[in-house]
Amino acid sequence: MKIYIASDHGGYSLKEHLKKAIKQYEFIDLGCDSEVSVDYPCYGRKLAEEVVKNKALGIAICGTGIGISISCNKIKGARCALCTNTTLAKLTKEHNNANILALGGRIVGDVLAEDIVRTFIETPFLGEERHERRICQIENE
Ligand code: RB5
Repeated sequence: MKIYIASDHGGYSLKEHLKKAIKQYEFIDLGCDSEVSVDYPCYGRKLAEEVVKNKALGIAICGTGIGISISCNKIKGARCALCTNTTLAKLTKEHNNANILALGGRIVGDVLAEDIVRTFIETPFLGEERHERRICQIENE
């Protein structure tokens, strides 16, 4: 399975960790490429556009996860959820069919982040009518 991943400088270290630690998925890295300061909006936008275009999943990382999640959610069709634990990651797939997971590289530890990513990728959308209906309402705003 291909997973798009992008970060700013505040998420760079976690992005590199996740690519090394999680071997069963193919990560397509959209940058950034170092800890030199960059602006998260362009990475969030690029990631969200690729995820929507390819009907894929993505991981967006900045220092807190907040800025890049806001940026991702500006793109129509992106449903980006900032998760700080595995319960949130599970529920946002089951209920919101989130297609982008946002993480705070300065907030969550590397091992917890691995668990959050695995949970996000492996949990299916429940597909129940009420959840579909609510997602459609977001899409049609
Ligand atoms: C960058 O210093 C920091 O502001 C950014 O990574 C993020 O936390 C913004 O929400």
